[in-house]
Formats: sequence, structure tokens, C-alpha cells
Amino acid sequence: MTALPPTDDDSAIWETWLSIYRLPVVTVAEEIGTFTALSDRGLTLEECAAQIGADARALSIHLGALAALGFVEKRGGKWRSTSLSRTWLHPDGAGYYGNFFSRFRESNPIHAQLMTTLKTGERPDMELSKTNAKEWEKGDMSDEAAIAIAKFMHAHSVAPSKSAARNPMFGELTHLMDVGGGSGIFAIEFAKNWPDLRTTVMDLPAMARAAQSYIDAAGVGDRADTAGVNMFEEEWPRGPDAHFFSNVFHDWSEETNSLLARKSFAALPSGGKIILHEMLMDDDGCGPWIPAAFSLLMLLGTLGKQYTFEELRTILEGAGFTDVQSDRSGMNHYSLITATKV
Ligand SMILES: C[S@@+](CC[C@H](N)C(=O)[O-])C[C@H]1O[C@@H](n2cnc3c(N)ncnc32)[C@H](O)[C@@H]1O
Repeated sequence: MTALPPTDDDSAIWETWLSIYRLPVVTVAEEIGTFTALSDRGLTLEECAAQIGADARALSIHLGALAALGFVEKRGGKWRSTSLSRTWLHPDGAGYYGNFFSRFRESNPIHAQLMTTLKTGERPDMELSKTNAKEWEKGDMSDEAAIAIAKFMHAHSVAPSKSAARNPMFGELTHLMDVGGGSGIFAIEFAKNWPDLRTTVMDLPAMARAAQSYIDAAGVGDRADTAGVNMFEEEWPRGPDAHFFSNVFHDWSEETNSLLARKSFAALPSGGKIILHEMLMDDDGCGPWIPAAFSLLMLLGTLGKQYTFEELRTILEGAGFTDVQSDRSGMNHYSLITATKV
């Protein structure tokens, strides 16, 4: 390859891969009757879920994506179809597209996956949830599965880890524990940026072994190491002055995240910091599109979603943390949410 300078901006990649949800989230809403239900009057999430026969948690994630695309809006806690969807996606609208869209339902497997989850709240039988989230939920991962998941997560996190690791707050820390650290990509970038910072990647034992091979290959083994620990069932190592969680809270429910936050609080010293690296939904849950579409993937494959800042603040404060702050991580949709154990 000729030597063009690399770019940290992977936004076109995110726009492109998440485009797989754009048409199906609309064809599902059209088929199940979301636009019709929201055309007569504004409905709360629960009212809309009852009217169309949907699971409320799944519907809230679908509505966030539909709002980001301009098909619905939320006012005073009630959802309403916009003029766009009332005109083109309501059977009585002036220019109903439903009979055209119907051809694209069966040919797109994501339509059926999103429909199953919307109706039942259960995850569809798809490869991603079998190989990733289900392994995590078992808490018992084979080396073979860990190597495959590490490859997948590593490719996804190269660009955001470069942006996040440059944040000067990491230079003020001594020892960071990267909880659910995956391939170790963040530990590698922290080591490259901050020579006085040590990072321990804590993950399930097989994933910790996979991360160690990435750390060794990057030549930063003097400042990064690993710990094979089940974050739900085992005691967390003591010593680090900060805990970092990237794309971990989005895998789990509020209740499970509250448990993680409490375990973090218990293991940190006084003055210690918790740092979350997540794509945040806007405060009203109506977008932006990239986090909203990422949240559809979480709905299909995990027990979580992309949270708003308020939702994360509630979890962190509930565990005892104070001074919850959020800032953008770089030229991407990620944010760094920090809080302190006083
Ligand atoms: C979505 S990945 C995030 C990986 C990495 N932080 C990143 O952003 O690229 C979630 C990580 O949580 C880890 N994990 C899941 N269940 C776990 C458990 N019970 N104990 C420790 N780690 C766990 C997985 O192995 C995986 O590496």
C-alpha cells in the first residue's frame, strides 16, 4: 500500500455498517402499525406498545431510531407520527408506500429479526447473539470463542480507542483497570500515550489470554497486563485508582449495570474514578441516528441498549459516585462519562 497518512475519522464506516437497520426499522413500524397508531393522537410508550402489541422496551429503542430518521417525534412524553410518515406510511395517507415496501420485507433478514424482538422482547436466533452476548452471559468462554470475539471487537474499537486514549485525564492516573477490556486495544493506546500509566485488562479468563497476545504483539507488556476475572461473580483486584468500561454498560440492563457500578465503587480507593466510554442517546432518546441504530444492534444481540447521560448518571449516583460529568471523546459519537468516589 502506498503511504497516505492515516485518518482517525471512521464516521463513514459507522454510517455505512449501521445503514443495515435503516430500511428494516421503517418497514417493521409500517407493518406492525406504529405510524397508524401514532397518527390519531399522541401516545405514551406504554399506550403505543399496548395498541400495536409490542414489547415496551423494544419499542422504545425502535421509536428512538424512527425519531432520528424523522418519522416520529416526542412531545411532553407522548409519541406522534410526523407529516412524513402520515403522508407516505399510513394506509390512508396521500401517497402510501406500504405496498412498495412490502417487497423488501421478506428479502431482508433484519426485518424479521427486528419484528421478532419488537413483538416478544426476546432476541432472535442470530449468529451475533449466539457468539458474543450469550458467551458473556454464560461467563464461561472457550479460547476459540474468545479469539474470534477479540478479533471482532478489536476491529470495531481501533479508531475510538485512539481518540479516547488521547484525553489528558488518563495522564493523571496511575493504574487503570479496563473492565471488560476485550482485545486490550484501549490498554495498548493508553500505554502508547501515557508512559507513566499502567493498565490492567480485566475480562473473562479466555478473553484475558486473548488480550495478552494483542498486548505482547504491540510491545507494551511493560505497562499493560491482564486479569482473568468474572466481573459479576468474583472479587475485583484492589489497587487501581480508576476503572474504565468501554462498550460494557450497553450490553446489560440498568439493574446489571447498577451491580457493576456498585462493585466498582467497592473496589476503588477513596478519590478513585469510574470512566464509561459509550455512545450516548440524546437526553430525549430521539437520536442521533448512529447511537440509535447501534442501540438496535444491542436490542437484537444483548440485554442492553445505548443509554442517555441521565440514565447512566442515575446508575452511577445510585452506587455512591458523585460529580458525574460527560464530554465527547473525539470526532466520533462516543462520550467519556466520569464520576468520583469521594
Ligand atoms: C462489547 S465488549 C467490549 C470490549 C472492549 N471494552 C471494547 O470496547 O472494545 C464486552 C466485553 O465484556 C466482557 N465480559 C462479558 N462478560 C464478562 C464477565 N462476566 N466478566 C468479565 N468480562 C466480561 C466480554 O468478554 C467483552 O470483552
